[in-house]
Amino acid sequence: MNHSDLPSPRRFSAAAPLRGRIRVPGDKSISHRSIMLGALAVGETRVTGLLEGEDVMATAAAMRAMGATIEKHSDRWSIHGVGVGGLLQPQAALDMGNSGTSTRLLMGLIASHAITAAFTGDASLSKRPMGRVIEPLSRIGASFTPSPGGRLPLMMTGASVPVPIEYRLPVASAQVKSAVLLAGLNTAGITTVIEPVPTRDHSERMLRGFGADIEVEVMGGERIIHIRGEADLKPQTIEVPGDPSSAAFFMVAASIVPGSDLMIENVGLNPTRAGLVEVLRQMGAIIDEVDRREFGGEPVADLHVRHAPLTGIEVDPALAPSMIDEFPVLFIAAAMAHGRTVTRGLDELRVKESDRLSAMAAALTAAGANVEEAEDGLIIDGTGGDPLRGTSNARVQTHLDHRIAMAMAVAGLVSKDGVEIDDTRPIATSFPTFEDLLEGATQS
Ligand code: S3P
Repeated sequence: MNHSDLPSPRRFSAAAPLRGRIRVPGDKSISHRSIMLGALAVGETRVTGLLEGEDVMATAAAMRAMGATIEKHSDRWSIHGVGVGGLLQPQAALDMGNSGTSTRLLMGLIASHAITAAFTGDASLSKRPMGRVIEPLSRIGASFTPSPGGRLPLMMTGASVPVPIEYRLPVASAQVKSAVLLAGLNTAGITTVIEPVPTRDHSERMLRGFGADIEVEVMGGERIIHIRGEADLKPQTIEVPGDPSSAAFFMVAASIVPGSDLMIENVGLNPTRAGLVEVLRQMGAIIDEVDRREFGGEPVADLHVRHAPLTGIEVDPALAPSMIDEFPVLFIAAAMAHGRTVTRGLDELRVKESDRLSAMAAALTAAGANVEEAEDGLIIDGTGGDPLRGTSNARVQTHLDHRIAMAMAVAGLVSKDGVEIDDTRPIATSFPTFEDLLEGATQS
């Protein structure tokens, strides 16, 4: 990571209502995939709206290390790829920083190329489980030497004759699904992934856009995805929509700060990502979709969000995959709602950039909220709209997790004493303009 060596603490305090129009940066998932697929297509792929966060830059650096040319010309990124099967062996370890998506998807790509690569990451990434991709990619023929517990740092060598597999996902994970599909690109024959619970489908959409032979069937509620290799990808022009996971912080902030009236422009509303909008509406939020349209092959709209009293609900666990990254900030909405919010089925939150259930339970408790941590979710009794106490002398621990930092910044906006977080640096992994946008929206 490009972080300076010292933590950068900051107190976020009660602010004026959020007003005006903002535009959040490009979608992180789509940005990673546009670089990876562009780097495998021969010819020039052009990308606008790319998220220039540290995670996506880690993907770009890795693809450069494997032979692609990736450059920025004013506001457009230009990628010249090496062709499927053409990845070069990187000469140094691939530093993935904080990015689980870069790591797991790149492991998939490398699994079907006969090259050896080493992966390293920061303290947070080095705690995260890689067994979930090592297992299917080993069946394809790749070999791995991970650190104990199936973690980074790890070395891997891709298969010289990769074998097509049929793989049923044991966890609802778009990263695991994508790793296997990307491995399938350079694997002769048909690689199949069976998804019992649908997860974000950006890989499938973009693979199709780049000309891969990919088919999706739905049977008995399961998604069955077939990809035929070896693929020949055609360069594309991609417009990346705004990231709904970044917009989420502003949707919640404008919903809970009295007097707010905010327009968030060009937000991606792919149904596999839009769970938070639905849950906030169930709680009473006023979020209107303005000018719903297609942008870069994805549904988008401008979201008009106004302050509204929220009511606690039981969140349907079936919605979890479509808002998996949004729970930290949903918990802030719950802490300000009338009554109790119950969330369940969130075991996956324990293996994100931090254990987000325990990190958010501790952070919210420190800020004066009433929270109970269960094994697979949080139970939160809201204030009914009254401000939270805040953290006075304490500092909230963000555990190198950008979304804990941003969620607790939003909590600070509705607190008496403000909320001090231990380190704002991780915010740059996904949303480098967060603090500026927040300042702008609370001054307009
Ligand atoms: C992502 C998938 C999700 C999500 C992550 C991005 C992706 O992870 O949490 O931020 O781009 O595929 P899982 O696949 O582990 O659920």
